Amino acid sequence: MKGGQGSRTGPGRPEPPMLQLRPLFLPEPGRSFEPSGHGEPGDDTMAQGIPDYKVFGVHPVEAERVFWYRWITGHQVSFALWRAMYDIFGDSPDTMPPRPELDVLAACVDAYSAMLLYSSTVPCAHYHSHIRRRMALQHPAISGTWAPDYRPVRRLFRGKLSWQGDPACEPLGTAVARNAAAHDYIAAHLVPDGLSLLQQSIGTPAMAVSQEKEELYDNLFLTLRRPISRIQFVGQLRARVAEVGTDLAHNGLYPNVEGHHHPVVTGHSGGIMMTLVPGALRALDEATRLVARHQLQGVGA
Ligand code: HEM
Repeated sequence: MKGGQGSRTGPGRPEPPMLQLRPLFLPEPGRSFEPSGHGEPGDDTMAQGIPDYKVFGVHPVEAERVFWYRWITGHQVSFALWRAMYDIFGDSPDTMPPRPELDVLAACVDAYSAMLLYSSTVPCAHYHSHIRRRMALQHPAISGTWAPDYRPVRRLFRGKLSWQGDPACEPLGTAVARNAAAHDYIAAHLVPDGLSLLQQSIGTPAMAVSQEKEELYDNLFLTLRRPISRIQFVGQLRARVAEVGTDLAHNGLYPNVEGHHHPVVTGHSGGIMMTLVPGALRALDEATRLVARHQLQGVGA
């Protein structure tokens, strides 16, 4: 059964998306991409426009499958966005990137915020009984600080790069502030007591992030380190964005779980997250187009 948007199981009834997880292949952080292989197929994964989606889904979903898919895929897309950001300033962190690249960075940060929202559309009770439990079994102190692709871009998210005060960086600064607010918001929504697994696991001997912790983190999110080309990198990002679009178009941002919806952002509490509710896919699509253009210029794809 194919999960294509246009396919239908009956009159007016779109076929449910497959929600099949796939491994994400990325180079080790800091390692360059491989040259595109001789005869490697060109970029045939061009973004085809984004579907509309409803905020509140209509068709009942299989909760475990949908929310585990969203948790893993939302993280994988975030890793790819972080990697794309690294490629813009990672080699020379003291040099301000030119304006078009600052725009790519801002778009990636906003798309990462959209993925924070997408990943956290899981009902709170389900998050605690399934997702958080599964993460804690991988390691009781597992944390976003272990994400290998985040480490090289962390200074940007902390506003620590020397050029971030330049007026040209204002849109990027705004996106970074929005992202911090989005992370705080979803953390408070899913874990109202505010303690991450890392903070809960008192007595964890070494707080430093070891290679083993990074590997456990990668492994949870089905991420494998191996050399890949830029074409393969962009292809993986585009494929996931298309799948997220299919999921949202079929299931809505807030899926129908046994007749109930579980909104993350509500009118009175949402603040800047409100714009992401209808605009998550647009933010993701925009970033993906800019990343593809940046990554593939000169590759001949
Ligand atoms: C939706 C997916 C999430 C992603 C992609 C994510 C990502 C991250 C990243 C990259 C960091 C490192 C920040 C840094 O080192 O500056 C981090 C830290 C943190 N996150 Fe998240 N996060 C997510 C969900 C959550 C949730 C649900 C909580 C709820 C408690 C949370 C609480 C924290 C806390 C407290 C930290 C600080 C370090 C720690 O104690 O682990 N995050 N997160």
